[in-house]
Amino acid sequence: MKYLLVFCLVFSASYAAIDEHRISLIERKFEDLARQLMLTELAMGERTRSDYDSGIKQIRNTADGTKSYFDQTHTFNSVCSIHEHSNNDRTVGMGEFTASLNGVEFRTRHNDYRLRMPHRTSKNYHWQEDIPFPHVPPSVLQKRTLPEQIKELHNYFRAFSFQNFHFRDYRPYFKPVLCYLEGTWTADTKTLNEPFESDRHHIDATSWFDLQEKIRFTSYTGGKHYLENFSYLPTTIMNMVNGTPEYAQWNYRIACHPLKKDLPLSALKPVDDMAARIGHRWNITRFAHSRAARFVLAPDFNGNRNKYQWQNGYGSFPDRRTSINSVLDWVMSEIPGKDNYPAKLHDTTFGMRILDPRVRNATELNTGYYHRYFRHERKGAMGTFNAHRGYSDRNLFVAQTSNPNVAEMKIKWCGRDEHTHKPFCKEEGVRYSYAIPLEIIYLNPLMSWNPYNLEHISDRRKKYIVTKDGRNGGLTHAKAYNGTSYEKYYRTPVEFYQTAHTTVDKDAADTARGTVGVLDRHGNVKRVLSSGVRITLPDIPGVGKIRMRYPIMPITSEGNQIGKEVEAVKDVLNHLETMGAYLQERPSSLSGGGNAKADAHFRTSVTNQDPPGHHFHEMFIPNEDMLDLGKGHKITVVTTTDNSHDHKIEVSYDQHTHKYTIHKCDGQDKCWDGHTAELFRLE
Ligand SMILES: *[C@@H]1O[C@H](CO)[C@@H](O)[C@H](O)[C@H]1NC(C)=O
Ligand SMILES: *[C@@H]1O[C@H](CO)[C@@H](O)[C@H](O)[C@H]1NC(C)=O
Ligand SMILES: *[C@@H]1O[C@H](CO)[C@@H](O)[C@H](O)[C@H]1NC(C)=O
Ligand SMILES: *[C@@H]1O[C@H](CO)[C@@H](O)[C@H](O)[C@H]1NC(C)=O
Repeated sequence: MKYLLVFCLVFSASYAAIDEHRISLIERKFEDLARQLMLTELAMGERTRSDYDSGIKQIRNTADGTKSYFDQTHTFNSVCSIHEHSNNDRTVGMGEFTASLNGVEFRTRHNDYRLRMPHRTSKNYHWQEDIPFPHVPPSVLQKRTLPEQIKELHNYFRAFSFQNFHFRDYRPYFKPVLCYLEGTWTADTKTLNEPFESDRHHIDATSWFDLQEKIRFTSYTGGKHYLENFSYLPTTIMNMVNGTPEYAQWNYRIACHPLKKDLPLSALKPVDDMAARIGHRWNITRFAHSRAARFVLAPDFNGNRNKYQWQNGYGSFPDRRTSINSVLDWVMSEIPGKDNYPAKLHDTTFGMRILDPRVRNATELNTGYYHRYFRHERKGAMGTFNAHRGYSDRNLFVAQTSNPNVAEMKIKWCGRDEHTHKPFCKEEGVRYSYAIPLEIIYLNPLMSWNPYNLEHISDRRKKYIVTKDGRNGGLTHAKAYNGTSYEKYYRTPVEFYQTAHTTVDKDAADTARGTVGVLDRHGNVKRVLSSGVRITLPDIPGVGKIRMRYPIMPITSEGNQIGKEVEAVKDVLNHLETMGAYLQERPSSLSGGGNAKADAHFRTSVTNQDPPGHHFHEMFIPNEDMLDLGKGHKITVVTTTDNSHDHKIEVSYDQHTHKYTIHKCDGQDKCWDGHTAELFRLE
């Protein structure tokens, strides 16, 4: 019995030893596997980084065509799916897109971001402030009657549209704001954080896990949630600490920054995104006036080389050259990373000081702000001081942060002390975020001008007052809105956009541009238009249409050989006169170059039905179809996507009244959201 007990004890002890040995073996194997997974992710990231620049990759496809260029890339009808929600006070309409930032590819929800900027005094994570709207010029407010005020305000818009600050100094009242896409690995992998506010969209999931499951499902079925509230945001293993993986969750936001000084329109020039342009059969001027156009910033602010073309509302400048520290670098360098405006950080990893490339002396760069160039103290292996962030990423702007909400990347490194020459080793951790520019938006005085002194309900919880008792913005006392709110932001008198003495109802197309009734403080109905952010303002008498949003987002495909070759070929073909000599055999003749028959451009009437809210749609009808319409045939077109939906419309043409009308809308006699049968020809 005694022996048996001893035997048992010895046996179980050795058994436990085997167990412990096995567990530590499994732990080691597990760590090896996790490390291998990290390396696989690195390989995928490296692959993406060498294939693509940071930028916008794709928007949602809404229609197909007989050629691939009828399909969406980063643009087609509208770049990055930008649109208007000008009935909201500070909402900027932007749909879903796929983007890549430093090799991390992700897909956004329907964005509709707000004009908000990082906090000016607090470093707290994602604390933001509203961007102040420009004031109304005092010379306008001094005028006693409304027509006089309108006339004087027109002068400011005229000065802006001619970029002539001698006529009226428009610069304090037309403030450029740079909105940007920012992404980073965050440390919180448990609770889902809404990265930025939208009045209209929120991520529809309870946790990151829930969101991933929903995205996986829609990817599997190819389906789509009709409200566009899902985003695809990857996760990663950031570090291995004593055999335990530290996970990180990718998240992004869109925020804005008011530029410190004026950005002349002469420093913006359209980019030829030829697929979308040929898909619409537009020449470059026509394309540049559409919402499909992107712009590029000039190499420098230099006013002599940047020529402003007032007829077009953009500039032209010599741009076939290399540049460092261009206008884009200057404006991006005003934007802080996740430490907000108080950011003050220096990166000294590997014992190297990172210097500001813009100054000659050895000033340390504040790496808490976005930059893509920096200087090294010592000459690098290639004998240069200047370095670019990323191995080959033209568009990669980075900023350091100290915020613990951003996942830390750790590194062990060894060196020698500069003075004592003693070797040492240390472990350091840094946190970075990445950004690309999205668009420049010029704010204007209409955003704060309130000539009828309409009551604004600023408390969001009380917005119901405005629409109480079935008020829908109709032009009668019973139906007019009672004051304005953040999502019923109508305060621009309709006369601002009309020629003098024309009654409001005369031109159906103009009134339909969203004239609504709002009660003033004395209960009188005032006819007003929405005053929020627009891509292009409606026609202003004596001024014309002015573009207010200039998309400047870079795209991913220019980061590889194909993209660069195509861009070179496009330049030669577009500029045969000056660059034709690069062709190995010159074309003997080009047939007349005719494109007289551009697509006809239409829009529907405005509807105020809610949901889906104040909006209209546009559509483009090719010339062949216009000829068929003339012969009495009906043709089918799909409208642009606005307020997250489109319509399939059967159009007919009446040869007697010369009117184009909606015959069927989504197969029904009437559009479900209240567009009338009328169609308005824009050009
Ligand atoms: C989804 O987006 C719609 C707007 O299209 C919004 O009204 C709704 O609140 C969002 N749903 C969720 C659950 O976030
Ligand atoms: C471009 O097309 C528009 C009409 O869409 C036309 O008015 C303009 O003259 C054209 N410009 C050139 C340079 O052909
Ligand atoms: C470097 O030059 C800047 C102005 O360009 C100046 O403000 C700064 O004090 C200088 N720093 C040093 C270390 O000389
Ligand atoms: C409009 O709203 C105000 C409160 O903001 C209220 O006092 C007033 O009675 C309302 N007017 C009408 C006509 O409902």
